[in-house]
Amino acid sequence: MQRQAISPIFTPKMMTEYMPSFSNHCELLKRKLQSIPNGKLIDVYAEIAPFTYDIVCETLLGTKVRFAQNTWKSEFFHLAELGYEIVFERMIKSLYQSDVLFYFSKRYNDYVKIQKLVDNFTRTILKDKQSDTQKPFDTCLDRILKHDLTEKQQMDATYVIFTASQESITTIISFVILMLAIHPDIQQKAHEELDRVLGTEDDEIPFTIELLNSLEYLDMCIKEVLRLYPIGHIIQRECKQDFRLNNDVVLPSGCSIGVGIYAMHRDPNIWPEPDKFIPERFTREAVLNRHPYAYVPFSAGPMNCIGKIYADLLMKSVAATILRNNRFECDYKRVEEITLKTDISIRPQKGYPVRIYSR
Ligand code: HEM
Repeated sequence: MQRQAISPIFTPKMMTEYMPSFSNHCELLKRKLQSIPNGKLIDVYAEIAPFTYDIVCETLLGTKVRFAQNTWKSEFFHLAELGYEIVFERMIKSLYQSDVLFYFSKRYNDYVKIQKLVDNFTRTILKDKQSDTQKPFDTCLDRILKHDLTEKQQMDATYVIFTASQESITTIISFVILMLAIHPDIQQKAHEELDRVLGTEDDEIPFTIELLNSLEYLDMCIKEVLRLYPIGHIIQRECKQDFRLNNDVVLPSGCSIGVGIYAMHRDPNIWPEPDKFIPERFTREAVLNRHPYAYVPFSAGPMNCIGKIYADLLMKSVAATILRNNRFECDYKRVEEITLKTDISIRPQKGYPVRIYSR
């Protein structure tokens, strides 16, 4: 139900309506970054998350909850990450799948704390919506709320939209900045494109779909990040009928299948030097020469990601804003030095440490 209710929201018309919101919040992010002293070591994720959270809250949920202006608790950021770890542990540890055994585990108290925070957050959003009569556009949440749902279903839907969008988008943008900081030559090419397309003045950028689509090199950088660090690194499916693979192994009906997207994206038979960051893997010619399912960061088929178009345009808006005015350096010299941790998504163990310099 949720999927059908949300899908029509990401038409070009709706995306056009979101553009002023992207532009306004990106301008605020630009100013925030301008206030950071040159050469300071920052964690990119922590700097941009309040702004991407606000854009998602405004455009997908239609709420005035604000993270960048501290009207919501910073505690949320810490607990959100802990929440992802617990969800993943419950997926992979058989003991944690039993509610009774989980109740007696050391994770249970954290789980209750997170659940309270999430409930409080989603209730605030839903209450905030009821009192807001001036809506510039229909959001994902507006469409979901048109269905006959219980309060619990409304709260779950609110949180799914929020968590499926903001975390993935912020993570990928942060990885893009980290990759460009490791590869100054690639960063230089991205800067040249931004200067050419957006100009070099320090003015506010009124983003449009056409403008963002013309940032082809930035798009290649984002795609290469999504290859190296697919957020949904493993997805699960249930086999509905016996299925014979090419090597004659039969997957029996009812069995659960894990599709290892991370491993597929680093298969050396398809991706030469798979651990290297090479945006040119995504030139039009290179893409045409590969099997379309060799690269599936948004999954594929009937259960694929519904937010791809939205994610694509928002990631480009934020990445372009950050890069247009700043240059980044970092202590890592090679991609392989970044150690990853995985739960329901992939993150670097030590965050995204980069030095920021204004251009
Ligand atoms: C870089 C950004 C994103 C990435 C890499 C990503 C990736 C994915 C992947 C791999 C799946 C499929 C999981 C599966 O097949 O089991 C998925 C599902 C989903 N995504 Fe995204 N996503 C992103 C952004 C978004 C955004 C912005 C939204 C906004 C609404 C969103 C909403 C969803 C929803 C609701 C599903 C579940 C679809 C279903 O079960 O029918 N995602 N995403």
